[in-house]
Amino acid sequence: MSSLLEVEDLVTAFDTDAGQLVAVDGVSFSIEKGKTLGIVGESGCGKSVSALSVIHLLPQPMGKILGGSIRFKGQELIGASHETLYDVRGDEIGMIFQEPMTALNPVHKIGRQVSEVFLLHGKADTPQKARELSIDILQKVGIPAPEIRVDEYPHQLSGGMRQRVMIAMALGCKPDLLIADEPTTALDVTVQAQILKLMEDLQAEMGMAVILITHDLGVIAESCDDVVVMYAGRVVERAPVKELFSTPRHAYTRGLLRSMPRLDRERKTLLPTIPGNVPALHEMPSGCRFSTRAEVEHDQESINNRPPFEEVSPGHWVEKCPFCFDQG
Ligand SMILES: Nc1ncnc2c1ncn2[C@@H]1O[C@H](COP(=O)(O)OP(=O)(O)O)[C@@H](O)[C@H]1O
Ligand SMILES: [Mg+2]
Repeated sequence: MSSLLEVEDLVTAFDTDAGQLVAVDGVSFSIEKGKTLGIVGESGCGKSVSALSVIHLLPQPMGKILGGSIRFKGQELIGASHETLYDVRGDEIGMIFQEPMTALNPVHKIGRQVSEVFLLHGKADTPQKARELSIDILQKVGIPAPEIRVDEYPHQLSGGMRQRVMIAMALGCKPDLLIADEPTTALDVTVQAQILKLMEDLQAEMGMAVILITHDLGVIAESCDDVVVMYAGRVVERAPVKELFSTPRHAYTRGLLRSMPRLDRERKTLLPTIPGNVPALHEMPSGCRFSTRAEVEHDQESINNRPPFEEVSPGHWVEKCPFCFDQG
Protein backbone atom coordinates (compact mmCIF):
# COMPACT_ATOMS: atom_id res chain seq x y z
CA MET A 1 0.00 0.00 0.00
CA SER A 2 1.43 3.36 -0.91
CA SER A 3 1.49 6.24 1.56
CA LEU A 4 -0.55 9.41 1.22
CA LEU A 5 2.66 11.38 0.81
CA GLU A 6 6.08 9.94 0.09
CA VAL A 7 9.08 12.23 0.00
CA GLU A 8 12.28 10.57 -1.13
CA ASP A 9 15.79 12.01 -1.28
CA LEU A 10 14.50 15.56 -1.58
CA VAL A 11 17.24 18.10 -2.33
CA THR A 12 16.33 21.79 -2.22
CA ALA A 13 18.71 24.69 -2.71
CA PHE A 14 18.78 28.48 -2.86
CA ASP A 15 20.74 30.61 -5.28
CA THR A 16 22.46 33.25 -3.18
CA ASP A 17 25.25 35.79 -3.66
CA ALA A 18 27.54 33.22 -2.06
CA GLY A 19 26.54 30.62 -4.64
CA GLN A 20 24.09 27.78 -4.43
CA LEU A 21 23.32 26.68 -0.87
CA VAL A 22 21.72 23.31 -0.30
CA ALA A 23 19.20 23.76 2.52
CA VAL A 24 17.58 20.32 2.36
CA ASP A 25 20.00 17.55 1.48
CA GLY A 26 18.42 14.23 0.66
CA VAL A 27 15.44 14.14 3.01
CA SER A 28 13.00 11.22 3.05
CA PHE A 29 9.78 10.78 5.00
CA SER A 30 6.26 9.56 4.44
CA ILE A 31 2.86 9.88 6.01
CA GLU A 32 -0.17 7.62 5.95
CA LYS A 33 -3.77 8.68 5.54
CA GLY A 34 -5.24 10.18 8.72
CA LYS A 35 -1.97 10.07 10.69
CA THR A 36 0.06 12.84 12.30
CA LEU A 37 3.73 13.15 11.47
CA GLY A 38 5.88 15.50 13.52
CA ILE A 39 8.96 17.15 12.06
CA VAL A 40 11.26 18.46 14.75
CA GLY A 41 14.67 20.10 14.83
CA GLU A 42 16.38 23.34 15.73
CA SER A 43 15.74 26.56 13.89
CA GLY A 44 17.32 26.56 10.42
CA CYS A 45 17.49 22.77 10.00
CA GLY A 46 15.23 22.79 6.94
CA LYS A 47 11.76 22.07 8.29
CA SER A 48 10.01 24.93 6.50
CA VAL A 49 11.99 24.49 3.29
CA SER A 50 10.99 20.80 3.23
CA ALA A 51 7.32 21.73 3.69
CA LEU A 52 7.42 24.50 1.11
CA SER A 53 9.06 22.09 -1.33
CA VAL A 54 6.18 19.64 -0.95
CA ILE A 55 3.64 22.26 -1.99
CA HIS A 56 5.98 24.00 -4.44
CA LEU A 57 5.83 27.35 -2.70
CA LEU A 58 9.56 28.00 -2.36
CA PRO A 59 10.60 31.64 -2.57
CA GLN A 60 11.16 32.42 -6.26
CA PRO A 61 13.38 32.63 -8.18
CA MET A 62 16.02 31.59 -5.58
CA GLY A 63 14.45 28.38 -4.34
CA LYS A 64 14.88 25.21 -6.42
CA ILE A 65 14.20 21.55 -6.01
CA LEU A 66 17.32 19.85 -7.35
CA GLY A 67 16.36 16.25 -6.93
CA GLY A 68 14.29 13.54 -5.35
CA SER A 69 10.68 12.60 -5.52
CA ILE A 70 7.48 13.88 -3.90
CA ARG A 71 4.59 11.52 -4.49
CA PHE A 72 1.15 12.51 -3.29
CA LYS A 73 -1.52 9.80 -3.65
CA GLY A 74 0.88 8.09 -6.00
CA GLN A 75 1.27 11.14 -8.25
CA GLU A 76 4.70 12.70 -8.73
CA LEU A 77 4.59 16.41 -7.87
CA ILE A 78 8.13 17.29 -8.93
CA GLY A 79 7.83 18.47 -12.49
CA ALA A 80 4.01 18.37 -12.40
CA SER A 81 2.10 21.02 -14.35
CA HIS A 82 1.08 24.32 -12.77
CA GLU A 83 -2.55 23.22 -13.02
CA THR A 84 -1.93 19.99 -11.17
CA LEU A 85 0.00 21.79 -8.45
CA TYR A 86 -2.67 24.45 -8.17
CA ASP A 87 -5.37 21.82 -7.75
CA VAL A 88 -3.40 19.86 -5.19
CA ARG A 89 -2.47 22.94 -3.20
CA GLY A 90 -5.41 24.18 -1.21
CA ASP A 91 -7.73 21.51 -2.54
CA GLU A 92 -5.95 18.39 -1.33
CA ILE A 93 -3.06 19.79 0.70
CA GLY A 94 -3.68 22.73 3.02
CA MET A 95 -0.96 24.66 4.78
CA ILE A 96 -0.82 26.97 7.77
CA PHE A 97 2.18 29.01 8.78
CA GLN A 98 3.72 30.33 11.95
CA GLU A 99 2.75 33.95 11.57
CA PRO A 100 -0.82 34.34 10.34
CA MET A 101 -0.44 38.09 9.89
CA THR A 102 1.99 37.56 7.02
CA ALA A 103 -0.27 35.05 5.29
CA LEU A 104 -3.44 37.13 5.61
CA ASN A 105 -3.81 40.17 3.42
CA PRO A 106 -4.17 43.19 5.74
CA VAL A 107 -6.29 45.21 3.31
CA HIS A 108 -9.03 42.66 2.71
CA LYS A 109 -11.83 41.66 5.05
CA ILE A 110 -11.65 38.21 6.63
CA GLY A 111 -14.78 37.06 4.81
CA ARG A 112 -13.40 37.95 1.40
CA GLN A 113 -10.16 36.04 2.07
CA VAL A 114 -11.90 32.93 3.32
CA SER A 115 -14.46 33.15 0.49
CA GLU A 116 -11.67 33.13 -2.09
CA VAL A 117 -10.71 29.61 -1.07
CA PHE A 118 -14.18 28.38 -1.94
CA LEU A 119 -14.49 30.40 -5.14
CA LEU A 120 -11.03 29.58 -6.50
CA HIS A 121 -11.42 25.88 -5.92
CA GLY A 122 -14.94 25.69 -7.28
CA LYS A 123 -16.69 24.88 -4.01
CA ALA A 124 -19.01 27.85 -4.38
CA ASP A 125 -20.34 29.44 -7.56
CA THR A 126 -21.57 32.72 -6.12
CA PRO A 127 -20.03 35.16 -3.62
CA GLN A 128 -23.14 34.74 -1.48
CA LYS A 129 -22.66 30.96 -1.29
CA ALA A 130 -18.95 31.43 -0.55
CA ARG A 131 -19.82 33.82 2.25
CA GLU A 132 -22.19 31.27 3.78
CA LEU A 133 -19.53 28.55 3.58
CA SER A 134 -17.01 30.98 5.13
CA ILE A 135 -19.28 31.69 8.07
CA ASP A 136 -19.78 27.94 8.57
CA ILE A 137 -16.10 27.14 8.56
CA LEU A 138 -15.24 30.09 10.84
CA GLN A 139 -17.85 28.82 13.24
CA LYS A 140 -16.30 25.39 13.07
CA VAL A 141 -12.84 26.65 14.04
CA GLY A 142 -14.31 28.35 17.08
CA ILE A 143 -14.56 31.97 16.03
CA PRO A 144 -17.38 33.60 17.98
CA ALA A 145 -19.97 35.59 15.99
CA PRO A 146 -18.51 34.65 12.59
CA GLU A 147 -21.27 36.53 10.77
CA ILE A 148 -19.81 39.73 12.25
CA ARG A 149 -16.13 38.70 11.99
CA VAL A 150 -16.36 38.16 8.22
CA ASP A 151 -16.68 41.92 7.82
CA GLU A 152 -13.63 42.71 9.94
CA TYR A 153 -9.98 43.11 8.93
CA PRO A 154 -7.13 40.86 10.13
CA HIS A 155 -5.72 43.49 12.51
CA GLN A 156 -9.03 43.56 14.39
CA LEU A 157 -8.48 39.95 15.47
CA SER A 158 -6.15 38.56 18.15
CA GLY A 159 -3.23 36.33 17.15
CA GLY A 160 -5.12 33.22 18.20
CA MET A 161 -8.22 34.24 16.21
CA ARG A 162 -6.09 34.99 13.15
CA GLN A 163 -4.56 31.53 13.39
CA ARG A 164 -8.07 30.10 13.54
CA VAL A 165 -8.87 31.99 10.33
CA MET A 166 -5.78 30.44 8.71
CA ILE A 167 -6.91 27.00 9.79
CA ALA A 168 -10.36 27.71 8.39
CA MET A 169 -8.81 28.69 5.05
CA ALA A 170 -6.58 25.63 5.00
CA LEU A 171 -9.46 23.32 5.84
CA GLY A 172 -12.08 24.98 3.65
CA CYS A 173 -11.65 22.49 0.83
CA LYS A 174 -11.38 19.50 3.18
CA PRO A 175 -7.79 18.59 2.31
CA ASP A 176 -6.44 15.08 2.78
CA LEU A 177 -3.27 16.54 4.21
CA LEU A 178 -2.71 19.59 6.37
CA ILE A 179 0.83 20.90 6.76
CA ALA A 180 1.10 23.04 9.88
CA ASP A 181 4.42 24.88 10.13
CA GLU A 182 4.92 25.98 13.75
CA PRO A 183 1.23 26.87 13.93
CA THR A 184 1.35 27.91 17.56
CA THR A 185 4.85 29.28 18.03
CA ALA A 186 3.75 32.91 17.86
CA LEU A 187 0.92 32.40 20.35
CA ASP A 188 0.86 32.41 24.12
CA VAL A 189 0.74 29.09 25.97
CA THR A 190 -3.00 28.95 26.68
CA VAL A 191 -3.92 29.84 23.11
CA GLN A 192 -1.32 27.34 21.84
CA ALA A 193 -3.09 24.56 23.69
CA GLN A 194 -6.48 25.65 22.34
CA ILE A 195 -5.24 25.70 18.73
CA LEU A 196 -3.58 22.28 19.02
CA LYS A 197 -6.77 20.86 20.52
CA LEU A 198 -8.79 22.42 17.71
CA MET A 199 -6.52 20.86 15.08
CA GLU A 200 -6.80 17.50 16.77
CA ASP A 201 -10.61 17.66 16.92
CA LEU A 202 -10.87 18.71 13.28
CA GLN A 203 -8.47 15.96 12.28
CA ALA A 204 -10.54 13.35 14.08
CA GLU A 205 -13.69 14.67 12.46
CA MET A 206 -12.38 15.11 8.93
CA GLY A 207 -9.93 12.22 8.85
CA MET A 208 -7.10 14.22 7.31
CA ALA A 209 -3.41 13.56 7.82
CA VAL A 210 -1.32 16.27 9.48
CA ILE A 211 2.35 17.14 9.20
CA LEU A 212 3.10 19.14 12.31
CA ILE A 213 6.33 21.09 12.19
CA THR A 214 7.65 22.31 15.50
CA HIS A 215 10.78 22.78 17.56
CA ASP A 216 8.78 21.78 20.64
CA LEU A 217 9.18 18.12 21.62
CA GLY A 218 6.35 18.46 24.14
CA VAL A 219 3.95 19.17 21.29
CA ILE A 220 5.35 16.19 19.36
CA ALA A 221 4.90 13.86 22.33
CA GLU A 222 1.28 14.87 22.71
CA SER A 223 0.08 15.02 19.15
CA CYS A 224 2.07 12.79 16.80
CA ASP A 225 2.07 9.18 15.63
CA ASP A 226 5.49 9.34 14.00
CA VAL A 227 8.41 11.71 14.25
CA VAL A 228 11.12 12.88 11.88
CA VAL A 229 14.15 14.48 13.52
CA MET A 230 16.05 16.86 11.26
CA TYR A 231 19.53 18.18 11.75
CA ALA A 232 21.30 20.59 9.39
CA GLY A 233 19.21 19.79 6.33
CA ARG A 234 19.07 16.03 6.82
CA VAL A 235 16.92 13.51 8.63
CA VAL A 236 18.98 11.87 11.38
CA GLU A 237 16.22 9.74 12.85
CA ARG A 238 12.63 8.77 12.17
CA ALA A 239 10.46 6.57 14.39
CA PRO A 240 7.04 5.96 15.91
CA VAL A 241 6.64 8.57 18.64
CA LYS A 242 6.77 6.24 21.65
CA GLU A 243 9.85 4.52 20.36
CA LEU A 244 11.62 7.79 19.65
CA PHE A 245 11.11 8.93 23.21
CA SER A 246 11.92 5.56 24.80
CA THR A 247 14.86 4.50 22.64
CA PRO A 248 16.38 7.39 20.73
CA ARG A 249 19.34 6.03 18.73
CA HIS A 250 21.04 9.11 17.32
CA ALA A 251 23.23 11.36 19.49
CA TYR A 252 21.42 14.45 18.21
CA THR A 253 18.00 13.07 19.15
CA ARG A 254 19.31 12.13 22.58
CA GLY A 255 20.67 15.64 23.00
CA LEU A 256 17.32 17.13 21.99
CA LEU A 257 15.47 14.93 24.48
CA ARG A 258 17.86 15.89 27.26
CA SER A 259 17.24 19.54 26.48
CA MET A 260 13.49 19.09 26.79
CA PRO A 261 12.04 20.79 29.87
CA ARG A 262 10.49 18.30 32.27
CA LEU A 263 6.85 19.10 32.89
CA ASP A 264 7.00 17.72 36.40
CA ARG A 265 9.91 19.89 37.37
CA GLU A 266 9.84 23.56 38.17
CA ARG A 267 11.45 25.68 35.51
CA LYS A 268 13.90 27.53 37.71
CA THR A 269 16.80 27.66 35.32
CA LEU A 270 17.07 28.53 31.68
CA LEU A 271 16.39 25.58 29.42
CA PRO A 272 19.51 23.55 28.86
CA THR A 273 20.36 23.35 25.17
CA ILE A 274 22.75 21.30 23.11
CA PRO A 275 26.14 23.00 23.27
CA GLY A 276 27.64 24.42 20.10
CA ASN A 277 26.15 25.67 16.85
CA VAL A 278 24.97 24.18 13.62
CA PRO A 279 27.66 24.77 10.98
CA ALA A 280 26.79 27.31 8.27
CA LEU A 281 25.44 25.84 5.05
CA HIS A 282 28.65 26.54 3.12
CA GLU A 283 30.85 24.80 5.69
CA MET A 284 28.85 21.64 6.29
CA PRO A 285 30.86 18.45 6.55
CA SER A 286 29.85 16.07 3.79
CA GLY A 287 29.74 13.16 6.22
CA CYS A 288 28.05 13.17 9.63
CA ARG A 289 26.85 16.72 10.13
CA PHE A 290 26.61 16.35 13.86
CA SER A 291 30.35 15.55 13.96
CA THR A 292 31.25 19.20 14.69
CA ARG A 293 29.05 19.24 17.78
CA ALA A 294 28.92 15.71 19.12
CA GLU A 295 30.56 14.89 22.45
CA VAL A 296 32.31 11.92 20.87
CA GLU A 297 35.16 12.87 18.56
CA HIS A 298 34.70 11.61 14.98
CA ASP A 299 37.31 10.15 12.63
CA GLN A 300 37.96 11.57 9.13
CA GLU A 301 36.04 8.74 7.49
CA SER A 302 32.79 9.66 9.26
CA ILE A 303 33.35 13.39 8.79
CA ASN A 304 33.81 12.94 5.04
CA ASN A 305 31.36 10.20 4.12
CA ARG A 306 27.64 10.36 4.58
CA PRO A 307 26.52 7.61 6.95
CA PRO A 308 23.86 5.21 5.64
CA PHE A 309 20.25 5.82 6.69
CA GLU A 310 18.97 2.43 7.80
CA GLU A 311 15.94 0.82 9.36
CA VAL A 312 17.06 -0.57 12.73
CA SER A 313 13.67 -1.90 13.84
CA PRO A 314 10.25 -1.74 12.13
CA GLY A 315 9.57 1.89 11.23
CA HIS A 316 12.64 3.14 13.09
CA TRP A 317 15.28 4.67 10.80
CA VAL A 318 18.58 6.17 11.87
CA GLU A 319 21.55 7.77 10.19
CA LYS A 320 24.12 5.24 11.31
CA CYS A 321 27.23 7.28 11.97
CA PRO A 322 29.44 4.95 14.05
CA PHE A 323 30.08 7.77 16.52
CA CYS A 324 26.48 8.98 16.86
CA PHE A 325 24.54 5.74 16.58
CA ASP A 326 23.63 4.04 19.84
CA GLN A 327 23.36 0.27 19.46
CA GLY A 328 20.74 0.31 22.25
N1 LIG B 1 15.07 32.42 0.78
C1 LIG B 1 16.18 31.82 1.25
N2 LIG B 1 17.40 32.11 0.73
C2 LIG B 1 18.53 31.52 1.19
N3 LIG B 1 18.55 30.62 2.19
C3 LIG B 1 17.37 30.30 2.75
C4 LIG B 1 16.12 30.88 2.33
N4 LIG B 1 15.11 30.37 3.10
C5 LIG B 1 15.71 29.50 3.96
N5 LIG B 1 17.05 29.47 3.76
C6 LIG B 1 18.03 28.64 4.49
O1 LIG B 1 17.61 27.30 4.47
C7 LIG B 1 17.90 26.67 5.69
C8 LIG B 1 16.65 26.01 6.25
O2 LIG B 1 15.70 26.99 6.59
P1 LIG B 1 14.26 26.65 7.18
O3 LIG B 1 13.70 25.51 6.43
O4 LIG B 1 13.49 27.91 7.16
O5 LIG B 1 14.57 26.21 8.67
P2 LIG B 1 13.53 25.81 9.83
O6 LIG B 1 13.89 24.41 10.20
O7 LIG B 1 13.80 26.76 10.95
O8 LIG B 1 12.16 25.94 9.28
C9 LIG B 1 18.48 27.74 6.61
O9 LIG B 1 19.88 27.63 6.60
C10 LIG B 1 18.03 29.01 5.95
O10 LIG B 1 18.96 30.05 6.19
MG1 LIG C 1 10.61 27.17 9.89
